Amino acid sequence: MAEDSKMEKITALCKRRGFIFQSSEIYGGLNGCWDFGPLGVELKRNIKSHWWKTMTQYRDDIVGMDGSILMNRSVWKASGHEETFSDPLVECFVTKKRLRADQIPKQSGTVLTFSGANNESTGFSVEKEYSVLLPEGGSEKKARKLATQFYLQSADDQKHADGLVLHEPSREAVENSTSFNPENGGQLSEPREFNLMFKTYVGPVEDEKNVTYLRPETAQAIFVQFKNVLEVSRKKLPFGIAQIGKAFRNEINPRNFIFRSREFEQMEVEFFVSPTDGKTWLDRWLEERLKWYETIGIPREKIHVLDVPEEDRAHYSGGTYDLEYEFPFGIQELEGIAYRTDYDLKKHQGASGKPLEYFDEENKERFIPHVVEPSAGVDRTLLALICEAFCEETVTNEKGKEETRTVLRFAPSIAPIKVGVFPLLKNKPELVEKAREVEALLRPHMKTFYDESGAIGRRYRRQDEIGTPFCITVDFETLEGVKEGELEGKTDTITLRHRDSMQQHRISIDQILSTLLPQLV
Ligand code: GAP
Repeated sequence: MAEDSKMEKITALCKRRGFIFQSSEIYGGLNGCWDFGPLGVELKRNIKSHWWKTMTQYRDDIVGMDGSILMNRSVWKASGHEETFSDPLVECFVTKKRLRADQIPKQSGTVLTFSGANNESTGFSVEKEYSVLLPEGGSEKKARKLATQFYLQSADDQKHADGLVLHEPSREAVENSTSFNPENGGQLSEPREFNLMFKTYVGPVEDEKNVTYLRPETAQAIFVQFKNVLEVSRKKLPFGIAQIGKAFRNEINPRNFIFRSREFEQMEVEFFVSPTDGKTWLDRWLEERLKWYETIGIPREKIHVLDVPEEDRAHYSGGTYDLEYEFPFGIQELEGIAYRTDYDLKKHQGASGKPLEYFDEENKERFIPHVVEPSAGVDRTLLALICEAFCEETVTNEKGKEETRTVLRFAPSIAPIKVGVFPLLKNKPELVEKAREVEALLRPHMKTFYDESGAIGRRYRRQDEIGTPFCITVDFETLEGVKEGELEGKTDTITLRHRDSMQQHRISIDQILSTLLPQLV
């Protein structure tokens, strides 16, 4: 399947089946913001709960916290975000489209540089330089049209369009330029730094002293509460603080569905270690995180580990691994694991005047702990899971005809709905009653879905498409009880169908829970 069309199919399925909707859709949406529907929210909660348990329940060296989204502005000054949390922004002079300078692909071709344009009959004249990149075999006519648009934007009205003459351009061949809009070849403005934090005011007065920001990462709340958490949890180094929560970034170019959003959720651990252990823990966390992705259904071979070169790392980093997943739109970052050294605690200690040191009783040493931070995006994990699970296959239906089956092969522990329960026929009250009974038995233990409408094959397909790993059908055999010799000593059997193999087998109702529950962890 072509990767473009795979992404289109995934986006359509997410909307059709209620995983993800555009935010404020009835008003035309809000770019970079998304709402999660009934299935999306279950999937998201399962991801977060899996991560939370892995960090704070299965290990005894990490405790949790939940910090506020708004914090004192001094936090963002001290952390360096107010000054440096920015992306380089460029603008196309003609379309006014804004792009991230560091994401513009390198392009080669001939540059046509016009030194100006004039219209003799209206007396209009402009002397500004404007360049267009003409790729090999590109149309000079189109380039001139673009330049005409540029020069007309300098005029107050369109009357200069007829008869406008562009000055003869100079030509120069260039390689690997990133100064032109990849969509139309038009010249881009010089980059300027654009701060990604959403600014807001605390209280009714919108003045400078009431400014703060929506947090762009959850990490800072952990750093500024480090001392409190250390004291109440009575932990010794190495230990970590975990947090899941919303983060906000005014991204220049939100794109690739929910991959780059303006509002998203992060799952972060700040793991505090002694200054000599930073690098060792960075490597340990890399292994831990790869294992975690495997348990939720993203195989190791689909994750590319990038050892980020020094010049590309964040200002605080003494070493970073990016875990990148093979999304249909390219290999892109899923999680960053950074050795943040003692950068943050040192900055906050300096700016607040409050000691953020740790006393090592064994060695009688006082120092600022170093930090290793595995930082994952909930939304990106969710998107990666859907991309990994999405599958179309040709199967033969009950009538012997071939059809396409769409399946989301989620790991059962992550699937939004664990089991579909169906009576074979909806107009047989005894079947309906029994199916309702079976559903009531399962409901306290797992997310169920009862469905009695349509042919049984279609009901299976509907569950396949949303990734439900098991389906149970109550049929006439259920009502008859168990035949002699079969499932000795048991009453009431049902059909259990497995999503991936489509295999069905009969089991007794009193065995359902003990069969399903171990497969859902
Ligand atoms: N505290 C470190 C930190 O925030 P980051 O690499 O900027 O580091 C960590 O972000 C993770 O947060 C990313 O790997 C990604 O999963 C997620 N993330 C960052 N920006 C995002 C965005 N605009 N949309 C969705 N997820 C984002």
